Amino acid sequence: MSEDQFKHVISHAKEYGFVFQGSEIYDGLAAVYDYGQNGVALKNNIRTYWWKSMVQLNENIVGIDSAIFMHPKVWKASGHVDGFNDPMIDNKDSKKRYRADVLIEEHVEKYVQKIEKEVVKGRKRFGDSFDEAQFRATNPNVQRSQQTIDYINGEMKSAMDSGDLDRLKGLIEELNIVCPISGSRNWTDVRQFNLMYSTQMSATDGESQIYLRPETAQGIFVNYLNVQKTGRMRLPFGIAQTGKAFRNEIVARQFIMRMKEFEQMEMQFFVQPGTEMDWFEYWKEKRLAWHKNLGIDAAKYRYHDHIKLAHYANAAVDIEFEFPFGFKEVEGIHSRTDFDLGQHQEFSGKKIQYFDPERNENYVPYVVETSIGLDRMFLVLLSDSLRTEQVEGGEERTVLALPPALAPYQCAILPLVKKDGLPEMGRAIFDDLKLDFACYYEEKDSIGKRYRRQDAIGTPVCITIDHESLTDQTVTIRLRDTMEQRRVPVNALRDLINSEVSMNALLRSLS
Ligand code: GAP
Repeated sequence: MSEDQFKHVISHAKEYGFVFQGSEIYDGLAAVYDYGQNGVALKNNIRTYWWKSMVQLNENIVGIDSAIFMHPKVWKASGHVDGFNDPMIDNKDSKKRYRADVLIEEHVEKYVQKIEKEVVKGRKRFGDSFDEAQFRATNPNVQRSQQTIDYINGEMKSAMDSGDLDRLKGLIEELNIVCPISGSRNWTDVRQFNLMYSTQMSATDGESQIYLRPETAQGIFVNYLNVQKTGRMRLPFGIAQTGKAFRNEIVARQFIMRMKEFEQMEMQFFVQPGTEMDWFEYWKEKRLAWHKNLGIDAAKYRYHDHIKLAHYANAAVDIEFEFPFGFKEVEGIHSRTDFDLGQHQEFSGKKIQYFDPERNENYVPYVVETSIGLDRMFLVLLSDSLRTEQVEGGEERTVLALPPALAPYQCAILPLVKKDGLPEMGRAIFDDLKLDFACYYEEKDSIGKRYRRQDAIGTPVCITIDHESLTDQTVTIRLRDTMEQRRVPVNALRDLINSEVSMNALLRSLS
């Protein structure tokens, strides 16, 4: 998919009520977006799919909903006050600011793409006898690119780990990285910026400066004891939550990919120390399966091991999706050790431990975290499902081939004409089906135009009522993806729609 297609995704999202620029009538607020009538429905459905697959399908995972405002000591304990920084660099000519590590990563990506091109060429040349692993290990061009990647990654990791900002700048200069806007190498020094927003609590509360949470995870950690005790939870067990997080992203771009206010869906899985790497592998696989279960092209997903680990992690991997602008993180799986609970134990002075009856000892549990951005998942689905297709008669149609269970509406009810009792029959069907499905009712315009509008918002099933329907109690159902039409009895509609759009079926194929 090209940049042009990405522009199409953004304009489609606006035109069809999925995503609007925040405060648009005041010329917008940078990196802040609002979800429209169809967007909120899609977002809610993604959240439900996540929630059910994490909480409902796992007997040892429970959910919570903690407050956005938290005691300021939480963020001191978690390391965010001192360590939640991004290394930023400005280009003096374009006056644009960039994350130094992202500039370097984007440079590395060019070599990754070079390797992929060589592999494609190799596959073409050798046909069926192509051995990809051997090719990657022996082809001189691939080897050269891989050595460059390893060198850059190694240098970046050591600079980031030691906080050596001069070395980061040196690397940018050494690699001749230019500003994408000005094309120049006229860079400032690299500086650290803290990403947390702060605000004031009422002056009478003593602790007046508080932060807007930059991750939902800490709400889970500070409630670990509450949930473990009241839920009588035994290790291993998980606590899940979804909710807003806030980060002062200096370089916010690519639409809803990187926003200042966004939503996370996070799960902290508490385990016996020493078992965390097994659970890390377990959740790494489980989470990728969750994505693939939506029918998204598996080739568009890959794992990406972290070069620089966050201050709390001893292992971390991203699940990346191939967006129109390249592979980018959608979800992170982190082995967070006992860092967070240990820190909260120390800063709060409260004992945060688990008595393990098997080992007959107390300890601070280890944690494996899965953390996915709801907005990024939304963008995955929009980018993957928006298609322009040729249909009969040389016409084009725009279709949003969303996973049916996640579409804003599961069915549309469309009386062929606005008279002769067809609207009344349509409304009766609507009133009956609305108890089970999100239904859309529409009488205006030709049926062809109405089908196109439903295709564009991803409605999997349209139901058309015509004059025959009044006499024989049958209607036409038309399927979004195949455009197949068939005549069915009204009393079979519920089961038929259910077979096309069921969230349960989606969950069943997952478990
Ligand atoms: N608790 C761990 C944590 O917050 P993270 O990798 O910083 O880890 C997790 O964030 C996920 O949140 C990311 O994979 C991404 O999908 C989403 N995310 C992070 N920053 C974001 C932003 N500025 N805008 C939109 N989504 C974001």
